[in-house]
Formats: sequence, structure tokens, C-alpha cells
Amino acid sequence: MNTIALFGGTPVRTKSFPAWPKPSQKFSDALMNTLHNDLWGVGSNINKEFNEAFASFQDAKYSISTSSGTSALWVALKAAGVNAGDEVIVPAYTFIATASSVLMANGVPVFVDIDIETGNMNPALIEDAITDKTKVIMPVHIAGNPADMDAILAIGKKHGIHVIEDAAQAHGAEWGGIKVGALGLGGIFSFQTSKNMSAGEGGAIVTNDDGFAERCFSYHNCGRVTGGEWYEHSHLGGNFRLSAFQASMLLPQLDTLPDTISLRNNNRAKLDNVLNDIDGITPQKMLEKATNSANHLILSRYDKSAFHGIPRDTFFKAMQAEGVYTYQGYAPLYRERLFITNNEEYPWLKGYNYSELTLPETERLADEESIWLRQNHLLGNDEDIMDVANAFTKVTEAMRKNPDPFLTYNI
Ligand SMILES: Cc1ncc(COP(=O)(O)O)c(C=O)c1O
Repeated sequence: MNTIALFGGTPVRTKSFPAWPKPSQKFSDALMNTLHNDLWGVGSNINKEFNEAFASFQDAKYSISTSSGTSALWVALKAAGVNAGDEVIVPAYTFIATASSVLMANGVPVFVDIDIETGNMNPALIEDAITDKTKVIMPVHIAGNPADMDAILAIGKKHGIHVIEDAAQAHGAEWGGIKVGALGLGGIFSFQTSKNMSAGEGGAIVTNDDGFAERCFSYHNCGRVTGGEWYEHSHLGGNFRLSAFQASMLLPQLDTLPDTISLRNNNRAKLDNVLNDIDGITPQKMLEKATNSANHLILSRYDKSAFHGIPRDTFFKAMQAEGVYTYQGYAPLYRERLFITNNEEYPWLKGYNYSELTLPETERLADEESIWLRQNHLLGNDEDIMDVANAFTKVTEAMRKNPDPFLTYNI
């Protein structure tokens, strides 16, 4: 093993990894077709076609495409009946929109801790968080890794509470052989630029429930109702529609997504194979019933006690010097300043004090253990993924054998 790059050795990797998202001739053709032959927005054929295809792809009856994953969350929460002061149970290890959308719907996010191995909301802690104000449980399939939907749906059923999946990162992921999204009342996806399906921006809600689908349609389309007049508005909705250009970009991706999912799966398996043999590095766990992950993010955990107490940030620096960028990722959401709320703006939040909250496993993961890799590390060939794996091996072996230069390294 040569000297590690942080201390002057040759890096494992000097080339960049494949770019994501990737443009293609199919996208250009589809965009030009819409430009010349279809409506550009509401009422377009391509949007209808995309909704039908996406619903079918996600094993759902309906898809309602939206302007973003965030607007999809707001629409879904309103359509599930969240009123001012209703509580929505969410994890705190996720993107901000999971919880900020609850505030935007005038609801109250109630944070529940995660299972550190999966990174997903821990179902064993949900019942303690349920009150007579709980309207929705919203698990997130973090990194595209399905949450324990059997346990969560059973709790929802027992208490008469809706389950809405935040599947923003989980296109094509499966629970028990069924695609995620419509396992409960409904679920949302994001097509924001970095996602596994990308239109720059965009989102969708999927569901098997006729009434929920109709309410989502209304909230995302200015409160209009199917079959109603153009200027007839039954709900306080907004314009949260996807444009026809975005739909044209997304439709062809349903043909290529299965191959990308296989590529991500294969590379993830090769990487995990190496990481599983490194004492002190633990890849994100998939539950047995999670038959497919979208592998949107690549998460693993760092145990500094296996490396003479070398701080995680020093490990990140050493990996970066090897040409493989790793980083911490999310911080616990409740620490964000936006949760220092103003009771005049949101009177129903009086009595909730997010600054006093501590969720030990969320904090352990975010503050001490998480290692994130960029998704494009999974999108290359054998040599590319082995470069990632070799960087882990090289850095961790060096840290274990000769910790002093790492321990005294000044970040
Ligand atoms: C878990 C999660 N929920 C919601 C969103 C919001 O999606 P968007 O960025 O499309 O609004 C994202 C993505 O950014 C996400 O990762």
C-alpha cells in the first residue's frame, strides 16, 4: 500500500466520476416534440401520458405530477386532511422539506428517532409519539432504502392514522416486491435535478385511493375539481403543476431507470462487499423485506473507536485526498433555525419547543458516524467502483496501522 495522499502519496483516483444527470438525444427529441406538437403546460398530452406511465411504474393507480417534491408533500398533507395544529410524525434525519412542508400545511412536525442501522424512522418509537392530534405518519425512504413499511402501516391501521411515504429519493425501490409510494394512503417523489429521475425540478404523488387522488388533483391545480368549470375552485390550492417540458424529459427515463437501478445495485453490492470487511465501517442496512433500494445516496457509518479515535473529519480529508469525496450529509432537522418559530405566525405551535429536543440515534448518526458518498460514485464501471472501495481500504488501513499523523493532523 503506498503512502496515503493526505501525507504526500499518490491518490487512488485522479479522474472524475460519471456525471449525473446525463443529457441524451431522447430528451432533446422529446422536448422538441412538446415544443412543436403539444400544449406546454396544463392539459398537455405528455403530462397525462407521464402520469399514467409513472403510476404504473410505481405499482399505483394514480399519479399526480407536481412542480416539486416539496409541493407534492404540501398537497399530499392537505389532501390527507391535515388542518391547523394537526400533528405529523416524521424523522429528523432527512431533507428539510419532509418537516417544513408540515409547517407549510399549518401542521406540527413531531420528530421520531431513527434506527441507526437503516437510517430510517424507528417504528418501535412511533406509538409513543401518537396523540389525539396525530393525523399522518410520514416515513422517509432515506437514500432510497425502504423504511419498515409493514410495521408502520400496522401502527397506522391500529390508530386510524394515514401513512404518507416521502419517497422523494426512492424511485423504483420496493418493499416486498411492490414499488414504494402507494403502500399507505399515498406517497411523494421528487424529480429535482440530482434525483434518480430528473427534470431539473418536479415531483409527483402516487396513490391507489380515488378520493385522495381527486383531492390531490384539486390542491395542486388551484382548487379545481375534475369535470368542474375552469373558474370553479373548491379547495385552497395553488398552481403546483408540472410543465409539459418536464414531463417530456421524465417519460423516457422510465425506460432507462431499470438499467440504472441495476447498475446502482451491482456497484453497491461490490462496494458493500469490501466495506463489510473493514472493521469500523458499516454500510447502511437494508431490511429483509426491502427487495430493492433506489440507492440514491450511499450511506455508511464510521466508528472512530476502531481507528484509535481519529475524528471523522480527518477520515473525510484523507478520502478526499485519495480522490473520493465523502462527507457528513444531514444534520438533525430540529436544530435548523426555522424551528425557532414565532407563536404569532403559528399560534398552534405554542408549547412545542424544538430547541429542547434530542434524538440520540439521529444525533449519533449525523454528528459522529455518517459517511456519505456522492451518487455518481455508483454510476461507473468496475474500475470506478473499485477505486472507491480501494480508497476506503487504503485510508482505513493507514489509520489503523499508523494513527499518529492522523491524530495530529490539523484540519
Ligand atoms: C427526502 C426528501 N423529501 C423531500 C424532498 C423535496 O423535493 P424537492 O427538492 O423536489 O422539492 C427531497 C429532495 O430534495 C428529499 O430528499
